[in-house]
Amino acid sequence: MNKLIIANWKMNPLTPHDAKVLYEVEYKGAVGVQGVTTVLCSPTCYLAMLAEEDPPSEQHHVMRGAQNMFWEEEGAYTGETSPVMLTACGVRYVIIGHSERRNYLKETDETIQKKINAALQHNLIPIFCVGETATEKAQGETHAVLERQIRDGLSGIEEIADSETQRRIVVAYEPRWAIGTGTPETAEDTVQVIRFLKTLVSEYSAFSFTFIYGGSLNDENARMYLGESEIEGALVGGASLDAEKFERIIRIASEV
Ligand code: PGA
Repeated sequence: MNKLIIANWKMNPLTPHDAKVLYEVEYKGAVGVQGVTTVLCSPTCYLAMLAEEDPPSEQHHVMRGAQNMFWEEEGAYTGETSPVMLTACGVRYVIIGHSERRNYLKETDETIQKKINAALQHNLIPIFCVGETATEKAQGETHAVLERQIRDGLSGIEEIADSETQRRIVVAYEPRWAIGTGTPETAEDTVQVIRFLKTLVSEYSAFSFTFIYGGSLNDENARMYLGESEIEGALVGGASLDAEKFERIIRIASEV
C-alpha cells in the first residue's frame, strides 16, 4: 500500500544554506523508495531556491509542499503568498489549517475553507489539518469538533468537482495536544478517528481522500501507525528536521 510521508519543517532551518542541505539529504533519502510518496514542506522563503534543486517528480516519489497560502491569486495582500506563486515554484502540496496557525495566527474554519477551495481550484493538493484540543478531548467533544472542522473546511468544494480530474485532498488528523509534546495519540484511537472522518467525507464522492496522522510521530513509534492500513501516512514535524530519523520513517513506510 502506498504511504504518504510529509515533512513539516515549520519555521526551520534558519538559513538558505541549511535549508538546501536538509533538502538535499532528505531528497536523497526519499528518492526512489518503493511504495512511499514523500513531500517536503519548507518555509515559503526557500521554495523558489529549492525549485532549482533536483526537480522533484511524481515518478521519483518526492514532491515539494508549502506550509500555508492565501486564497486570492494576486493583489494588495501584504505578506501573503498566492496559489499561483506556489505552483510557479513547483509546489504540489500545501498544508492548510495547521493547529499552530489556528492558534497563533487565529485562522478560522472560514479562512481555511477559502484556502482549501483556492488550492483545489489551482490543482494544489491541500493537506487539511484537523484535530481537537486537550480540553475538547477531555470533555468528549472530539467528534463534534472534527465534524465542524471537516464540514466548514470542505464547504463549497462540490462546485469545484469536475468529471475529468478527481481532485485529491489529504486529511491530517493532528490532535493539538499531541503536536510537539512527545505524547502521540495511540494508533488504535487514531484508527477509530480516521474511520469517523471517513464517514464525514463520504458525501464528497467526486474527491479522493488520503488520511494521515500527525503529532509526535517519530522513527521509534512510526511502525505502530504506518502498520495500520487505515493510516495512510504521516505529517512529521520535529523528526523531519533530523534527516536520519526522517529517512528511517520513510523506510518503515516502505516496509509496512
Ligand atoms: P510534531 O509536529 O511531529 O513535531 O509533533 C507535527 C505537526 O505539527 O505537523
